[in-house]
Amino acid sequence: MAEVRVAFIGTGRMTGEPGPMGYAMAYMHADGYELLSDVEIVACADIVGENAEAFAEKYGFSDTYADYNEMLAAVKPDMVSICTWPHLHAEMVLACAAAEVAAVHCEKPMAHTFGAAKAMVAACEEAGTKLTFNHQRRYGKPFSLAKQLLDEAAIGELQTIQFGTSDLYDYGSHSWDMCNYFNDERGTKWVLCGLDYSEENIVFGAHNSNHSTVVWEYEKGVCGQACGGDAKGAVGCHHRMLGTEGIIEIGREGMGPLRVLRAGEEWEEIDTDGEGCHGAEFVYRCLADIVDCLQTGRESQMNAANALRATEQIFAAWESVRRRGIVRLPLEIEDNPLDAMVAAGELAPTRAE
Ligand SMILES: NC(=O)c1ccc[n+]([C@@H]2O[C@H](COP(=O)([O-])OP(=O)(O)OC[C@H]3O[C@@H](n4cnc5c(N)ncnc54)[C@H](O)[C@@H]3O)[C@@H](O)[C@H]2O)c1
Repeated sequence: MAEVRVAFIGTGRMTGEPGPMGYAMAYMHADGYELLSDVEIVACADIVGENAEAFAEKYGFSDTYADYNEMLAAVKPDMVSICTWPHLHAEMVLACAAAEVAAVHCEKPMAHTFGAAKAMVAACEEAGTKLTFNHQRRYGKPFSLAKQLLDEAAIGELQTIQFGTSDLYDYGSHSWDMCNYFNDERGTKWVLCGLDYSEENIVFGAHNSNHSTVVWEYEKGVCGQACGGDAKGAVGCHHRMLGTEGIIEIGREGMGPLRVLRAGEEWEEIDTDGEGCHGAEFVYRCLADIVDCLQTGRESQMNAANALRATEQIFAAWESVRRRGIVRLPLEIEDNPLDAMVAAGELAPTRAE
């Protein structure tokens, strides 16, 4: 296979304490690329010079830039990993599309506004750039085995999908994406949400609600329910699928990572080879798959259309709060309703210390 030359936009800094002010996801991407014999990391761009230099030193290259446009023009990489905060993703993806980069793997959440998310997809479609997002849980055993159980009709016909989460946008981006994966990427008919945003909760530079409850309906009738923050106990696990003949639960506290209840039987714990709901190996598998897709022309399940589906649900939930009512899709807005409500003083979270 032809060698894939990868560059990074945003490297972060390894602090030993990853959190909402810096997780250094670029290092996890780079560790994943390093496992692939036909990938070479060739350059990085970061506005903080010492971040770029530390990253280059660790991964054995010397080409660092402060300006990512300069890097794209000088290096002409085959693939770019974007590991910056969400409000920067769109301008960086657009720059990669303009530079005719063949593949861009961008961190989630997709973008800071729904308009920006749609613009990223359109620009990459026009340029022929394969755009993917890092919703890596699809590569974790508890999730892929749950999908296998659904496909085998272990719980009959799927009727309801639920998830418990901290928030609807940052972590929630993964959770919605998993729901759509479980429901075969079907479209959503409507979304209805109520939330509390009384204390400022900035995660990777973006407002996130404190507590929330959402219901929605997919085309063909499957219903969804999400509970976030203090409300997440109402779901009580990472994901639950209710079918006509049973239940699948992922990440229920005090239980194994995956279990199934078939009609007329006891709960069965499914062996996940020691994997829980989180793991760097999910990212490594995701990157291996995306590089293979670039080399073979295959479509990745991390594709932008799938990410946009989850993004539309997130912004539709927030739009439902703004409209104080149900939101029918497709979503006809461009902005970020949560941000807009904060800016207008309709939501007035107390400032974090
Ligand atoms: N997939 C996951 O499970 C997961 C987990 C954590 C974080 N994330 C996501 O990863 C993304 C990155 O978060 P992080 O915490 O790794 O970031 P970080 O803060 O660790 O690193 C971001 C880097 O971007 C650089 N940067 C800022 N502006 C730039 C610019 N204009 N040009 C070049 N570089 C610039 C910063 O200097 C910094 O080094 C976020 O979208 C976050 O939501 C995903």
